[in-house]
Amino acid sequence: MKKHYQDKNECRICGSHRLMKYFDFGPMPLVNRYVSGEEGAERIPLAVMFCEDCANSQLSVVVDPYFMFSNYLYHSSVSKTFKEHCAAMALDLQERLNRGSLRCLDIASNDGCLLKEFQKKGFETVGVDPAQNLCEIARQGGIRTICSLWGDAAAEEVIKEFGKVDVVTATNVFAHVDDTHAFVAAVSRVLTDEGVFVVEFPYMGNLIKYHEFDTIYHEHVSYFLARPLVQLFKMHKMDVCDLKEFPDIHGGSLRLYVVKEQNRTIARRPKRVETFLKDEADAGLHTIGPYQGLDTRANKLRTDFAGLLDDLRGKNKKVAGYGASAKGNVFVNFCGIDRRDLLFIVDDTVAKQGFCSPGTDIPIVSQKRLYEELPDYLVILAWNFSEEIMNKTREFRERGGKYIIAIPEVRIV
Ligand code: TMP
Repeated sequence: MKKHYQDKNECRICGSHRLMKYFDFGPMPLVNRYVSGEEGAERIPLAVMFCEDCANSQLSVVVDPYFMFSNYLYHSSVSKTFKEHCAAMALDLQERLNRGSLRCLDIASNDGCLLKEFQKKGFETVGVDPAQNLCEIARQGGIRTICSLWGDAAAEEVIKEFGKVDVVTATNVFAHVDDTHAFVAAVSRVLTDEGVFVVEFPYMGNLIKYHEFDTIYHEHVSYFLARPLVQLFKMHKMDVCDLKEFPDIHGGSLRLYVVKEQNRTIARRPKRVETFLKDEADAGLHTIGPYQGLDTRANKLRTDFAGLLDDLRGKNKKVAGYGASAKGNVFVNFCGIDRRDLLFIVDDTVAKQGFCSPGTDIPIVSQKRLYEELPDYLVILAWNFSEEIMNKTREFRERGGKYIIAIPEVRIV
């Protein structure tokens, strides 16, 4: 079988080789790749390293992005929470730039979830995404979309077809990018001098604080703090002029507003950025210390979860899962559980139904099955959407069902 990954032993922010490994899953399947047969069985090393020079965390390998992203079953619009977050972002940008109509580019535009909200505000939009299946969905929804990975060639195409833009957004994609410098250079190229680059990602400080080890998987080649990113943008003559935290998005996300050094048209809040960097340093996150305990906490969680499953099995209780998210698939693989432990996993993404959670034999099914089999317990594997999922499954609860959430601690809700 062809090898689909390469080792990475240089920091993708500062170029340092002083990388210390602190978390190692061993070989893991690609948790967002839904295929059967030999290809589906491929396991790839999954370990995280800390850069002693700039404090960035990154995986020890890089998987070929075309292999991971050319057919992508994650549809952003499945989540109401995320749609609302996108609508709020459109309003935020409208107020922040206060310029009437804006020209906006969304990188990794998925099914057009964010750009639809921009269109509602009257912004002109263009998306770039490498997944053919998603580009088609977005286009059918009236979103102009270029099918490509982001980089210099895509920037060229946007400029040629659409012109330079006032806003570039990149939500939940930057952590997927190996060559961060090429990515930022292409953003800088496509952005007007008065424009803003908005980049949003799950924040590493939260991963450590809340033991979110299941958000570590091959797609996420980096785990960002603010500090290394401020350093990266500086190398491209760009400043982080403001930032905002979103505790409820993907386990706690951080949004940075980035502008070209010479840009004086957008309000800058340097104090807020400085305070954030200081808090990061005070929490010890610029040193290896806090990272080294992640291993122990993940192992404890696995033991607690296995104990709970044993207990429920002893009482003849039926247990299923909800949300075949990438993190859920990491969790079931890390815990080594199969369909004897979890009967099935419900996911509302139709395209995932009929497959198994990658690396396991646990089938992914629609909600219909939940009510046919009525398990006693439902493990909310997509814990970042717990509230939304509980709201959706009111009937399950009314018929006596209970929920289990495992992150940051195993508990019955
Ligand atoms: P994520 O945690 O990576 O965003 O993935 C969330 C997964 O959960 C995704 O596969 C969609 C699924 N999901 C549902 O099936 N129903 C829902 O109501 C929500 C919010 C998510």
